[in-house]
Amino acid sequence: SDAADAHGMVVTITAGPTREPLDPVRYLSNHSSGKMGFALAKAAAERGARVRLISGPVALETPAGVERIDVESAVGMLEAAQEAAVDSDLFIGCAAVADYRAEQVAEHKIKKTAGDDALTLRLVKNPDIIATIAKNTAGKARPFMVGFAAETRELERYAQDKLNRKNLDMVVANDVGQAGLGFGAEDNAALVLWRETEGTPPGRLELPPQSKGALAATIIETALKRLHARQGS
Ligand code: PMT
Repeated sequence: SDAADAHGMVVTITAGPTREPLDPVRYLSNHSSGKMGFALAKAAAERGARVRLISGPVALETPAGVERIDVESAVGMLEAAQEAAVDSDLFIGCAAVADYRAEQVAEHKIKKTAGDDALTLRLVKNPDIIATIAKNTAGKARPFMVGFAAETRELERYAQDKLNRKNLDMVVANDVGQAGLGFGAEDNAALVLWRETEGTPPGRLELPPQSKGALAATIIETALKRLHARQGS
């Protein structure tokens, strides 16, 4: 059978930014548009998978046949992701999750204080969604875990480090410092790394700049092949 067929599989994908409130009208976030994650969801659905797309606030249409779960903050994304991961075969963390949130969300709009030219915000670390799921998922079995790594230097070294530290099976590293690629762009490029699993050797695949749709199709195909190799099917 086709080594990258996904019929009968459940795939969960996180996409987009998270939004961390400061007060009723303000938030901390980042420039993720959700395009890469939505392209992955579309590619997985086209392979026949049942796809759940957990998305932060983005302005994109849901790909055909994909179940979309909208969230705002990292804590909200973690809850949705944990629930979805329980019966997933493949989990892909493409969201740009805010690493920190405000320690206290102000109940009322934060006011300027006369005479104060500086404002101090105290931030606390958000939970690491993909690392939490890679560690704790109960249920059918631990999903095949694919993380992204957004780096601006030493791509391979930091990507390898994320693969190990977050206990992932595969990592998709993108150089987000390159003009025209990464955050918000139509195109992207990636270095895909995977670990050795049950007798299959580690490997790497360099994917040159191309549309996020084309890149997503290759990433999904590669993940499905590794997953099948792991299951020995
Ligand atoms: O959305 P686009 O505009 O299309 O842009 C795509 C992208 C550049 C955002 C995407 O390709 C990408 O690189 N996503 C990951 C961005 C990121 O936050 O990377 P990171 O190196 O900080 O995180 C590493 C991994 O841990 C990622 O899988 C991330 O989803 C996950 N993570 C990080 C922090 C956290 N608290 N929880 C997580 O699950």
